[in-house]
Amino acid sequence: MEKVLILDFGSQYNQLIARRTRETGVYCEVKPFSLPYDQIVSFDPIAIILSGGPSSVYEEKSPKIDKRIFELGVPILGICYGAQLMAYTLGGKVVPADDLASREYGRTETEFDTNSSLFGMITPKSITWMSHGDSVEKLPEGFTAIAHSAGCPFAGFEDNTRRFYAVQFHPEVSHTQMGREILRTFLVNIAKASATWSMANYKQTAIDTIRAKVKDGKALLALSGGVDSSVAAALMSQAIGQNLTCVFVDHGLMRKDEGDQVENIFSKYPINFIRVNAGKLFLDKLAGVSEPEKKRKIIGEEFIRVFEKESKKIGKVDFLVQGTIYPDVIESGLGSNAAVIKSHHNVGGLPDYVDFKEIIEPLRFLFKDEVRQLGRELGLPEYLVSRQPFPGPGLAIRIIGDITEEKLEILREADWIFRSEIEATGVKDANQYFAVLTDTRSVGVMGDGRTYEYTLALRCVSTSDFMTATFTRIPYELLEKISHRIVNEVPHINRVVYDITAKPPATVEWE
Ligand code: XMP
Repeated sequence: MEKVLILDFGSQYNQLIARRTRETGVYCEVKPFSLPYDQIVSFDPIAIILSGGPSSVYEEKSPKIDKRIFELGVPILGICYGAQLMAYTLGGKVVPADDLASREYGRTETEFDTNSSLFGMITPKSITWMSHGDSVEKLPEGFTAIAHSAGCPFAGFEDNTRRFYAVQFHPEVSHTQMGREILRTFLVNIAKASATWSMANYKQTAIDTIRAKVKDGKALLALSGGVDSSVAAALMSQAIGQNLTCVFVDHGLMRKDEGDQVENIFSKYPINFIRVNAGKLFLDKLAGVSEPEKKRKIIGEEFIRVFEKESKKIGKVDFLVQGTIYPDVIESGLGSNAAVIKSHHNVGGLPDYVDFKEIIEPLRFLFKDEVRQLGRELGLPEYLVSRQPFPGPGLAIRIIGDITEEKLEILREADWIFRSEIEATGVKDANQYFAVLTDTRSVGVMGDGRTYEYTLALRCVSTSDFMTATFTRIPYELLEKISHRIVNEVPHINRVVYDITAKPPATVEWE
């Protein structure tokens, strides 16, 4: 299989480079810049892309690259920091911008030399997305300038003989008007990629790989009904048939009718589907617990225990299947010093488990929308593959304070009304929506009587990656209808509020 290697120098856009490359039909992987040289060689890339990053090449501690990659004979594209690093490593000069005009952030008009190899397929002038303080001042020997902007005489440069190319702007972001064409030119025209990578052939490759690995062995999968574990189950089922067992641990913290829905869908597949109703057990363990991280921890641990017990009943199992996806696998080139905001627990992902010979992660190289695409290829229904995220700990983290069966019932009904109204109306940009039962009670009046009941919060966000989000502009009329229905149809709620906070500073979930 032809592969492109993306070396990550810490750019916030590194995953976008991978997305664009794959959209072109070329398989690629993102690896930290520190990947040892022999591993770069054994990866056997048809081309290498050096990503952007926050550092300055002339600083002693900045991330560098083994010079030998420039002797591999493969085409190399440097982007932003990657461009500066290429210039610096091959003998050019990079300097900090001495005046504000040479620093460029955002939309920048750029002129291209359309006689160059990299820009031969685009118009002579267009908007690019720049984000740099440093600039290349002198090109290394063999290079010529092929693009410039007002503040940047070397916005693009190439050594066509050695097939080295560099751009100061970010072709991977959508604001760069000709970005896709430029990446495509590099991959297809320069690196001669056949661009035939698709989900259909990935599916077959994945099935063949799984078969070769599992042979006659038995595999076990924790199925939550979410997109990732569902697609992993369908893929494993096509690969190894009856040797797969799927255990659905119903922790009693699912939304209205969800446990039954998961059972209805998956009991039809030949996956030896087992549902374990463990609701009571989880509620007992969670009794009186209000602290969000503690809730997550209890649920995570209990989940593993139940799963462990079930798998013992099945007998000797060789492989544990996990639904890990690529964004969780990519390790930032600069390592991660990020603070733990929440310890996400995904019931599709279990920690290493002693009784298994090996762990299989059949989705570990796919982005979320590629997982959805694979689900479609495998014939899963659309409503399942296009589901919005639902946290592993379920409604436990959407009930503020301690959890009781009664509160779960209230939340399930209210959440159901909210979700069905949003879906029936088809609200634009509603990417995730749910209700939260707060622990605040307030006074109300119903009929002629005083009430003292719960406040329910509605959360609906617009986001593409769930890393940042804004609240969705739901029409007032619809909010009014939803609020009216909830207080009238759901006992113990007398007040409904709409969460109008962005992420950051808030998070999507309340806990
Ligand atoms: P936050 O609340 O961190 O959520 O802004 C971002 C996205 O992640 C989902 N989420 C979780 N998913 N286990 C999961 O599998 C979890 O513990 C968890 N907590 C939050 C959340 O629904 C949103 O889509």
